[in-house]
Amino acid sequence: MNPTKRYLQTLLTYYEEEVSGETYFLGLAEHFVEHKKLMLLAKVERYAAQSVLPLLEKYALSPRDESILKAEGEEAIQQHQNMGWLQFMAHIVQRYPDYLDEFLALQAMAPKEDHLALKILTEHEVAAIDFARREIAGDPDSLDSLNQYLQR
Ligand SMILES: [Fe+2]
Repeated sequence: MNPTKRYLQTLLTYYEEEVSGETYFLGLAEHFVEHKKLMLLAKVERYAAQSVLPLLEKYALSPRDESILKAEGEEAIQQHQNMGWLQFMAHIVQRYPDYLDEFLALQAMAPKEDHLALKILTEHEVAAIDFARREIAGDPDSLDSLNQYLQR
C-alpha cells in the first residue's frame, strides 16, 4: 500500500503536535504543585514524537522548526494553567479519547510496515488517559502507566 498524501500530512502534523505537547506540559509544570507528574507527561510526549521520527525521515517529511512548535505549545498553556488539578485530570479523561481515535485513524491509513512505530504513538494516549483516571481515583501508583510506557 502506497502512503497517501493525507497520511503523510497527518503523520507530520501529529509529530509536530507531540513536540508542542512537550512544551505544553513543561509549561504547565510551573503552574501546578504536581509538577513532577507534568514533567513525566512531557517526557511521554517527546517519547511519542521520537517514536515516529524514523517515519518522517523515511518519507522525507520536514517538521517546522522546533522553536515554532514550542511557541505553539506555550500558547496552549494558558488555557489550562488555572485549572484545579482534578479538573485538569478530568479534562484529559474527557478530551484525550478523541486524540486516541485520531491516532487509530492514522494507523488505519498507514502502510503495514509503519504500524509498529504508530502503535507507540497511539499508546502514549492510552497511558496518559490511564494516568489521569488513576489520579482521579486517588491511586498512589498512578504514574505506573506513564513509567511503563517510557520503558517499552
Ligand atoms: Fe500527546
